[in-house]
Amino acid sequence: MNSEINILQRIIENNENVIIRAEYLQTEHQIKCGTELLKGRWVDEDQVEKLLKKLGKQLEINNGYVVIENGVATEHKRNLKYRKYENLNTIETQEYKVKYSLSCFYGKVYFYDGDGCDFVVKGLGKFGDQDDLDTLYREIDVFLAIGGQEHISGIIKMLGVVRNEDGDVIGIALEKGERFVAENITQAQKAELCDGVAYLHSRGYIHCDIKEPNVVIVNEHAKLIDIGSCLAVDDKTSAIFMTEDCGDPKLLTGERGRPGFEFDIYCLCKLFGLDSTKYKTIEDIKKA
Ligand SMILES: Nc1ncnc2c1ncn2[C@@H]1O[C@H](COP(=O)(O)OP(=O)(O)OP(=O)(O)O)[C@@H](O)[C@H]1O
Ligand SMILES: [Mg+2]
Repeated sequence: MNSEINILQRIIENNENVIIRAEYLQTEHQIKCGTELLKGRWVDEDQVEKLLKKLGKQLEINNGYVVIENGVATEHKRNLKYRKYENLNTIETQEYKVKYSLSCFYGKVYFYDGDGCDFVVKGLGKFGDQDDLDTLYREIDVFLAIGGQEHISGIIKMLGVVRNEDGDVIGIALEKGERFVAENITQAQKAELCDGVAYLHSRGYIHCDIKEPNVVIVNEHAKLIDIGSCLAVDDKTSAIFMTEDCGDPKLLTGERGRPGFEFDIYCLCKLFGLDSTKYKTIEDIKKA
């Protein structure tokens, strides 16, 4: 099998010069890592790191890039514009081992080993770039704007932030949930999600991405995650992070060409298997 990672291995073993980083490069060997590209195709960042280890290039790649020149690898730290969020609680992750991670829009969601560990961390991947970091900060800002460090029915709680050795924020710690399966939803859980969406709307936010993978179950309670996809209703410029397959084109190209509260109501109906032409308010859905 001539996979991308094998091509990369050959390049390195042949002592050809190569740069592995999180951006497209105008060079002979184009590799995008993290969400990666090698001559037009994607390579998994963990595979790249394993390969470097296997080939004796003992490098941790953390928000930077690696240059391999004449067989010698050097790590370059990227100059990212970090934020400190000094008032936010710091969650220490050092004592836990990462059990597994899932990819998310701007990096990874890390799950840890250990009985006492009741949180997950949504943070930058090893190859995160400035856009990724800014998207992480956007999620933190929404949590702060809605008071998401307190208990809110139907909304995942932010427990604090994760920092690097310089105190820069590189992740969000969230209470840990279990996978949600829409067909098993209870009446009480439907009500919780309705409350969560109504709360966001009361704070002037549209979630924009209500769907099965963006709900988790915490101690039997249903909670919305992916709070970074929230859009302030009067925000006419920010990027919209929304699911492609739950959109009714009419809702997306409304008068402002941007989603409004009705879009969340439409998505809630879809999630609960309700006819969206019949339910126009969250109260209606809650009574259904
Ligand atoms: N608090 C949590 N508890 C348990 N699992 C979580 C939690 N937060 C996120 N996850 C898992 O990680 C996945 C990705 O997280 P999230 O939806 O927040 O990121 P995303 O940016 O939307 O990524 P994607 O683009 O894949 O939707 C979720 O679908 C869920 O499986
Ligand atoms: Mg998601």
